[in-house]
Amino acid sequence: MTTKETKLTPLVNVSKLWKFWDWLIVLVAVFRSVEVPAIAALKFFQSAPFFLLTLNLTTSLLLLFDILLRFQRPGSNERGPLYGKQAHLHYLKTYFFADLIGSLPWGLISNHLIPEGIWSEPISFLCLFRLARVAAFSQDFVRTPSRFFIARRLTVFLLWITLVIHLLACGWIAVGGVTHGLTAGHTYIRALYWSVTTVSTTGFGDITPKTEPQMIYTMLAMILGAGLYATVVANVASLIARADSARAAFDSKIERLNTFMKYKNMPDPLQKKILGYHEYLWQTGLGHDHETLLEDLSPGLRRSVGVFLNRHIMEQIPMLQGAETAVLHRLISGLTSVVYTPGDIIIHHGEPGSIMYLINRGEVEVVDPKQGVVATLSEGEYFGELALLDPDRPRLADVRAKTFCALSMINRETFAMVLEQFPDFAAHVRKVAAARLAESDLRATQI
Ligand code: CMP
Repeated sequence: MTTKETKLTPLVNVSKLWKFWDWLIVLVAVFRSVEVPAIAALKFFQSAPFFLLTLNLTTSLLLLFDILLRFQRPGSNERGPLYGKQAHLHYLKTYFFADLIGSLPWGLISNHLIPEGIWSEPISFLCLFRLARVAAFSQDFVRTPSRFFIARRLTVFLLWITLVIHLLACGWIAVGGVTHGLTAGHTYIRALYWSVTTVSTTGFGDITPKTEPQMIYTMLAMILGAGLYATVVANVASLIARADSARAAFDSKIERLNTFMKYKNMPDPLQKKILGYHEYLWQTGLGHDHETLLEDLSPGLRRSVGVFLNRHIMEQIPMLQGAETAVLHRLISGLTSVVYTPGDIIIHHGEPGSIMYLINRGEVEVVDPKQGVVATLSEGEYFGELALLDPDRPRLADVRAKTFCALSMINRETFAMVLEQFPDFAAHVRKVAAARLAESDLRATQI
């Protein structure tokens, strides 16, 4: 069987190069949001080494270049992809101004073009406008369905918290919250300490505001900190709860089941059997409600998932391999999974039958009413085919689960289709059936 891998197509097809560029711009924007306010607050620019000035200018040029490139790319809004003029207009209306303001070399401007005074430091914070697009990018990053969605959320969350703490620390330096005369490193560490204790609402009180602007700044930081702290606690709690939501749902189901069984006064062995059944479903992953989980998928995707989930059947019965996709899909849509617990009777001797079973996991015993166990069948084997081959023949024997058994049920219609489509398999089934019947006849004559 050859299944062609189809790649996922996002709303707007973004090439790898664009993706790389987007990541680069986000990293540069975050870097500048950390670097420019810190350097401005620490008054580093006056004595800044040449490489810092060049870095500031280069990153700024890179971000300005990105604005030009934006006009060459398709955009998208809630209604779908946008091209040409529509895309340009959309960019102009949304992020263009924030991008432009955030991309200018504010560090250099504040230290070289604006005279030293009340505005020279705050103005460098204008580079934070570039964070608007970082926010949009991180929202996309978190919302894109991914196996690592919890890790992604945590990363984005940590990034923003760290950024807020850092910026508050820079602001604290700018309002003169740290004693003068310390080196840049010591000043920054003290400011960061103040920022963390304020945001985490710890507030040891060893670094306190002295002037009125410092008091106003501290009050604002406290209000922000209280909100941020609540968000951190709520988000972390929700992420932890989501990390194992499947297990939480399972536990709550077992809790309801326990209450029900106790309420109905079920005998202990039956209660244990029911709980054992659920534990087996959980351990083998068979307990997931496939139907509900997959009902939103497109029919094509649902079929591909069906093929994948039932691939073991093709592996177990090599004669079914090499089938055309359409046949394979018909076969798979005619299969139903079922689980039996040890001791369960799957087939009753003498009853009419319309289903055969494939053993995916576990072992069953074929029990002759007079002679007891005549065969043990395991993974990859099948039973119940005799009643399907001859509709007038009742079930030849009891079939009992020896262990927990995960089986695939095949109905009469699918069985007929399989026999028609796979002549090798049909010949094999008929040969095995003949041997089983002969054995049964032999036993009958011996009694
Ligand atoms: P069916 O008669 O439909 O239901 C009982 C099933 O037990 C039967 O089909 C066979 O698939 C299986 N069976 C009966 N006898 C034997 C045997 N001797 N060895 C293996 N399987 C058997």
